[in-house]
Amino acid sequence: MEFVKDSDPYPDLRVNIGSLELQNPVMTASGTFGYAREFEDLVNLHRLGGIVVKGISLQPRAGNPPQRIVETPCGMLNAIGLQNVGVERFISEKMSYLEGVGVPVIVNILGDTVDEYRRITERLRGVAGIAALEINISCPNVKKGGVAFGTVPAMAAAVTEAVKTAAHVPVMVKLSPNVADVAEMARAAEDGGADSISLINTLIGMAIDLERRRPVLANVIGGLSGPAIKPIALRMVYQAAGAVNIPVIGIGGIECAEDALEFIVAGATAVQIGTANFINPRVSEEVVDGIGDYVRASKLGSIRDLIGALEV
Ligand SMILES: Cc1cc2nc3c(=O)[nH]c(=O)nc-3n(C[C@H](O)[C@H](O)[C@H](O)COP(=O)(O)O)c2cc1C
Repeated sequence: MEFVKDSDPYPDLRVNIGSLELQNPVMTASGTFGYAREFEDLVNLHRLGGIVVKGISLQPRAGNPPQRIVETPCGMLNAIGLQNVGVERFISEKMSYLEGVGVPVIVNILGDTVDEYRRITERLRGVAGIAALEINISCPNVKKGGVAFGTVPAMAAAVTEAVKTAAHVPVMVKLSPNVADVAEMARAAEDGGADSISLINTLIGMAIDLERRRPVLANVIGGLSGPAIKPIALRMVYQAAGAVNIPVIGIGGIECAEDALEFIVAGATAVQIGTANFINPRVSEEVVDGIGDYVRASKLGSIRDLIGALEV
């Protein structure tokens, strides 16, 4: 372990996600940070470790009808329905701005079939400015009766392999928490050739308007996120990190530097911040500062010394 001087103003926060180097471990989570430009007046985007953009599909999607979001105790439920501009508009309208930000841009992709995942990956091949792909496998596979790719190990491995074969950049697989054994899903992604895994996506939940005796969300069910899911996410990151040899990215309810550090100690190499962006748009930058303060105060040589440092 390397030690820094008290006066050292620049703690070493660099981490490596396989071949991808981040200047610090703090990324923004897909679907909660738009295409980054929406936040340019609020956050110094160039200070982030990475930006994960809203999930992109082959064709544009309008998403679900309203109501699509509801606040719940310590969290929120959303049923946006993967609304997005589609891959062509993403490339022509969003990519040049994102490339100019100067931090790694990770493109989150989704599809209804393995072939759709493959085709979108082929379309993104060679597009300048993409540092990595993140595969959202929480989508229903229409060819397999709507079972989510992320709940059946063989399907998760198949979609990972298809994307990995077609991709020109490292592939991160984003795991669903709606499974009994997350370690098994993590291993399936690794077997499929994933360069890293990120977890967790939202947990399936529901809210009821008792007055009207109707579901609050037009879609009836939605994805739960925010601090309410943090203990589950921490547990899953810990289990997944113990099951694979590839880097793990922790997501779920992170609101401050301490939350992020807990994920890192549990085994995450980096983290993503989602719902907290809606409460405090500057949160990601504040977490970068807080992690730096912690590394300096703890006299660690690098944030990397903390990855998986949990003593059980
Ligand atoms: C409004 C909203 C939209 C989201 N859209 C996506 C998406 O397009 N693709 C994806 O992989 N995850 C999506 N997510 C999941 C988040 O990226 C993240 O995994 C989840 O919210 C847990 O993190 P958090 O508690 O910090 O929000 C979305 C979450 C929210 C709240």
